[in-house]
Amino acid sequence: MQIPSFVDSNRIVANLPQPVRVRVEAWVDNLNVLLSLHNPRVMSRMAPAAIRGLLLRRGRRPTSLRARHRTFLDFDFPDGLPGLKALYDKAKRLQWNGDTDLPWDISVDPMNPEVPIISKEFIEWSVIEDFGVRMNAVERQAFSNRVASWMLSQFLHGEQGALMAAAQVTEATTDFDGKLYGATQVMDEARHVEVFRRYLDEKLGRRYEINDNLYTIIDSLMTDGRWDMKFLGMQILVEGLALGAFAALRRMTKEPLLDQLLRRVIHDEARHVQFGLLSLRDLYTKQLSEKERIEREDWAFEIVVLMRNRFLAHELYEEGFAHRMSRRQWNRLMEDMPGMNLFRRQMFRRLVPNLRTIGLLTERMRPHYARIGLDAYFFLPATDEMSAQDFAA
Ligand SMILES: [Fe+2]
Ligand SMILES: [Fe+2]
Repeated sequence: MQIPSFVDSNRIVANLPQPVRVRVEAWVDNLNVLLSLHNPRVMSRMAPAAIRGLLLRRGRRPTSLRARHRTFLDFDFPDGLPGLKALYDKAKRLQWNGDTDLPWDISVDPMNPEVPIISKEFIEWSVIEDFGVRMNAVERQAFSNRVASWMLSQFLHGEQGALMAAAQVTEATTDFDGKLYGATQVMDEARHVEVFRRYLDEKLGRRYEINDNLYTIIDSLMTDGRWDMKFLGMQILVEGLALGAFAALRRMTKEPLLDQLLRRVIHDEARHVQFGLLSLRDLYTKQLSEKERIEREDWAFEIVVLMRNRFLAHELYEEGFAHRMSRRQWNRLMEDMPGMNLFRRQMFRRLVPNLRTIGLLTERMRPHYARIGLDAYFFLPATDEMSAQDFAA
């Protein structure tokens, strides 16, 4: 899908020295993302996070945000929603230890072509050559590894967002069993941060900054005062995308430690998505007014578009390609890359059916999702209709 361009960066940046050009290009490109948000209500809600994330690029340094949600307390300790107690019991049973339950003694050599971190088919070299960049076998292997490190770095950053969001959700939920379950999720997310960080630092030796779009989404839901938006943003959208992304990477990797790490994380994430489905299904299908539901439908769609079109590995561009092509050319290269495209589509396999099951994939929204090519997933099973084997597959 062609990304709309409201401001022409090519004309603005021509003749600027490269470091300045890279910064201006990023700024203009991100401004176009902000201007591409369709719904004015959603745009005004997301604007502060988008300004911090896309224009000020706050994800690139330590940052603090003012939370606006209310902490809910109930000293009667009432029973929670059906299913949440069972999910809490399951989460307690399935806790694992990132230190002792993964084979860290496996020696990982990212430059060994026999055991690739991501499969060779993922990168279509002829597409890169079409843009005038030629690489020999060693350079190709090194580039593949950078792509893998970039991807795993974004997983790590998403996990940090999930850790903080899970803590907020635990405070804000009005369901007492939800609070108990939420505590297990906080522990799960801490473990995910631990294992992704360790894998990147010890095995791949390279970490990338957070993608500006991912930062914007995390910022937006951390600062939204409405508890259900945190559930929708983190438990359904970010975690749903993560489930698809982890499963896609797991299918691509031949590296056994990463395979086992992803398998364990995927099982935890499936519970987290289920928590979101259990918490939101009744609220969204029976209790919200039409106006409130429409706002959530639109917000979810904008996030989907942001992730579908904008997960373009700009951190890799700024590291090694800015002197070879413009950011706009890089965007086209990433859009044309079949492996990247397949990966982006896989991310939505798990998410789209979950939107259906909580009532946000309405007749009004289906043409919009179809327009961005996600109609193939409308009727796949939702996360809580899948078996444990399905997740591991
Ligand atoms: Fe996680
Ligand atoms: Fe999670």
